[in-house]
Amino acid sequence: TLFEQLGGEAAVSAVTAQFYANIQADATVANFFNGINMADQTSKTASFLCAALGGPKAWGGRNLKEVHANMGVTNAQFTTVIGHLRSALTSAGVAANLVEQTVAVAETVRGDVVTA
Ligand code: HEM
Repeated sequence: TLFEQLGGEAAVSAVTAQFYANIQADATVANFFNGINMADQTSKTASFLCAALGGPKAWGGRNLKEVHANMGVTNAQFTTVIGHLRSALTSAGVAANLVEQTVAVAETVRGDVVTA
């Protein structure tokens, strides 16, 4: 699975932490996370991604369409955030082909997150 190829839970968690660091350093998307506990956010998104990448534990959290409803995320903002995931994967030394496959999995939630 992609989960195994990336190096399992520890690797996905590390990439997810870097993903949110990149987001928080980008003023065009950082404000969405004002007041959000980023340690919790990182652990939830890492769990979601582990499951989506074929890991052994099913996602036990909330439905992503409900979670992101009314945030007003645009397609352009989502694309920006996907870029932050791509950079996090690349800076972790993940091979380009695996980066693109992982990004493609994250792209599957675009329709749940984008509402504007
Ligand atoms: C939760 C914003 C993209 C997965 C949240 C929350 C915010 C947020 C503010 C916290 C909601 C709350 O606790 O009240 C955004 C924005 C995105 C984006 C602005 C893109 C522009 C994504 C993507 C994924 C994702 C690409 C998955 C790959 C999650 C998960 C939660 C969450 C798993 C927690 C759900 C739960 O509480 O069970 N998001 N998100 N989000 N987001 Fe996103």
